[in-house]
Amino acid sequence: MSVRFWRVRALAMLLALFVGGCTAPPLLTAVLGPPLKPLPVAGRLRRPVYKPYHEETMTYNLVPPPKADWHAKLKALPLTAAGGTDWVKALNENLIKPKPGLDAKAEDEPVMDLDVVLTPKDAPDFKVTYPHKPHTQILSCDNCHTGIFQMQAGADPITMEKIFAGEYCGRCHGPVAFDPASACPRCHTAMPQ
Ligand code: HEC
Ligand code: HEC
Ligand code: HEC
Repeated sequence: MSVRFWRVRALAMLLALFVGGCTAPPLLTAVLGPPLKPLPVAGRLRRPVYKPYHEETMTYNLVPPPKADWHAKLKALPLTAAGGTDWVKALNENLIKPKPGLDAKAEDEPVMDLDVVLTPKDAPDFKVTYPHKPHTQILSCDNCHTGIFQMQAGADPITMEKIFAGEYCGRCHGPVAFDPASACPRCHTAMPQ
């Protein structure tokens, strides 16, 4: 028999062993013995398992809001001249009672009645009266001091442009509190209503 015949035969046997081994593992097991078990991984993890920091620092004892027709309740609240909800009036008429915090055990903070008058250098007619009272009825000092504002009248370079860009008063006015574009005289108290 020719060398070529044995070559072809050997190739066919290898192929049969390969195909048989892949499709029917018991065949390979019969030829090579039982498969090896994977070795346990040696050493430690390269870094500790990631744990979001919230887990330790933010454990809230949340109270779910009561079921209610919130749309009807909102419609019953007073409106501003611009047509939005007048939250400060609603607060002063005891129509709403904001909770001190998300945590059921959060304590309320004292209200501070201090107006800060800010007068733009180039436009004194546009002086602003910033009232602490309604803000501290709803917010705590550290919502603003000193992340947004210094605790000193006139210390921050506030402009309308920055407010409309979402800085300073615009961090809240526009996104959640009344829109500065719709109610100039609420801040510029000298402007005609
Ligand atoms: C949420 C409060 C708020 C509202 C609403 C508001 N402003 Fe202002 N405005 C400010 C503050 C704060 C300043 C900066 C005062 C300072 O420190 O000089 C300012 C400054 C200004 C200035 C001085 C120039 C400048 O850009 O700094 C003008 C003019 C002005 N406002 C016009 C307006 C007009 C017009 C509207 C209504 C479309 C308006 N403002 C609505 C708070 C407000
Ligand atoms: C909604 C934001 C806000 C909250 C909340 C807030 N403040 Fe202020 N506060 C201001 C602004 C605006 C100014 C003026 C800063 C400026 O002109 O740069 C100011 C100024 C001050 C000043 C300086 C007044 C002056 O005449 O120099 C003091 C003191 C102060 N705040 C104390 C407090 C305390 C205490 C609390 C909590 C009870 C508080 N603030 C809560 C916004 C806030
Ligand atoms: C941290 C959020 C926050 C910031 C910053 C903030 N406010 Fe307010 N402000 C509120 C909320 C909330 C209300 C009540 C909701 C509403 O009136 O839409 C309010 C209400 C007001 C009122 C209405 C008061 C009333 O008696 O009706 C004025 C005026 C006002 N803000 C001016 C300012 C000015 C001026 C600045 C910047 C110097 C400022 N606010 C910055 C949250 C903020």
